[in-house]
Amino acid sequence: MKSIKKENNLNNKKILLRLDLNVPLLGDKITDTTRIDKILPTLNFLISQNAKIIIISHVGRPKGKVINDLSLRPICKDLEMKLSQNIKLISKDVKEIVHKDLFDNDDGKIIMLENIRFYPEEEENNQEFAKQLANLADIYVNDAFSCSHRSHASIDKITNFLPCYSGLQLDLEVNALKKITSEIKKPITCIIGGSKVSTKINIIKNLIPKFDNIIIVGGMANNIIKYMGNNIGKSLQEENSELIIEEIFSLSKTMNCKITYPEDIVVGKDLNGNPQIKELSEVSSDEMILDIGPKTIKVISNIIDESNTILWNGPAGYFENPSFANGSIEIAKKIVENNKSNKIYSVVGGGDTVSLLNSLNSIEDFNFVSTAGGAFLEYLEGKELPGIKVLN
Ligand code: 3PG
Repeated sequence: MKSIKKENNLNNKKILLRLDLNVPLLGDKITDTTRIDKILPTLNFLISQNAKIIIISHVGRPKGKVINDLSLRPICKDLEMKLSQNIKLISKDVKEIVHKDLFDNDDGKIIMLENIRFYPEEEENNQEFAKQLANLADIYVNDAFSCSHRSHASIDKITNFLPCYSGLQLDLEVNALKKITSEIKKPITCIIGGSKVSTKINIIKNLIPKFDNIIIVGGMANNIIKYMGNNIGKSLQEENSELIIEEIFSLSKTMNCKITYPEDIVVGKDLNGNPQIKELSEVSSDEMILDIGPKTIKVISNIIDESNTILWNGPAGYFENPSFANGSIEIAKKIVENNKSNKIYSVVGGGDTVSLLNSLNSIEDFNFVSTAGGAFLEYLEGKELPGIKVLN
C-alpha cells in the first residue's frame, strides 16, 4: 500500500479523496463528529501540499435514490468551519459534471460531491461509473477504512483508472489493527451489538475459532432470542437467520468458544416508549426489545473480569434514548474500570459505539478506537478487505 503521505509532488494535482463521513444525523444536526475530526489531518496535509481535493462520501443507506434528508450538506458545513475554507457541494449528476464545474476560481481548493450512494452504480461497483468519477481527478486516495469492506465503485473499481494511495487515517487504523491482532492476549472476548444485523451475523461464525467468548447483544441478539422460542414482538430482526444461528452454536461447541446472549431485556412500546425490564418469555407482540437487562449486565461484567482482551463493536441497545442506554453504559464502565487497572487491553470500533463513548467522555480510556464497524469485524475475521486489497 502506497501512502499519500510519502508523495511530495501534489502541487495543483486533483485528488479524488474517498472518506467515510457517515456520521449520525438528527435532522441536519450531526450528533457525533468523530469520523469528521479523524480525517482532518489528511485534509490538512493535502491542503499544505497545494492539492485540489474532490471529496467523495456516503451517509446512510439511500439505496441508489436521492433522499434529501441524507444530503452531505450539514457535513460539508461542519468541515468548512473546521478547515476555515469554503467547500463547494456539487449536487449535479456525476455523469454530467465537466471540469469547469469543479474548481472554477483560484480560491476554491476543496469540493464535495453529493452522497455517492444516491447513485445505484456505486453499490453495484459499476465500471463505467467508476471511470466517470476517475475522469474528474489525477490521483485517488482511500481514507475510508470503515468502508473498505464494501466492493463499491468509489472504493474498488475506481482503482482501475487512477494511481491509488492510502490516506493517513487508513494507514493509522490498518497499522494499529495489524499490531493488535498479532500481539493479542487470551482469553479474548468480542462483544457484538448494534443494529446492522445483516452485515454482522454472518461474520460471527468466522470469529468463533479466534475468540474465547462472543457476547451477542443489541439488534443481533433478537434473532437468537427468537430462535430460542421466544416472542420478540416488533423488535428489529433479520429474516431467515435460523440456519446461521444453528451453525454459530454448533461451531462454538467444537471450537470451545462460549456464546453469550441476553438473559433478560428491557422493552418499550416504541423507540420513545417507557422502559420495562422483562424476562425473555414475557415480550408481548406490541413491544420492542431495546436494551439488555440487569442479569445480563452482571453476566457480561463477569466475563470482562475473566478476559485479557476485549474487542467491542456495536451498542447493547437503543442508546440514543437514555431510557435504553443503561446496558451499553454499564459495559463501557466495566471495560474502562478494568482498563484503568491494566487488567485488560481494549479495542472498540464502529460509528455508534464511538458516539456512545464520546457521550460518556470515555474515548481516551480505551487502548484503541477504530472508526470502523463492519470493516473492523471483517478485519478481525482475518479477511483481506476488498478496498485494501485493491490498494495493495
Ligand atoms: C459504516 O458506518 O460502517 C460505514 O460507513 C459503512 O456503512 P454501511 O454499513 O452502510 O456500508
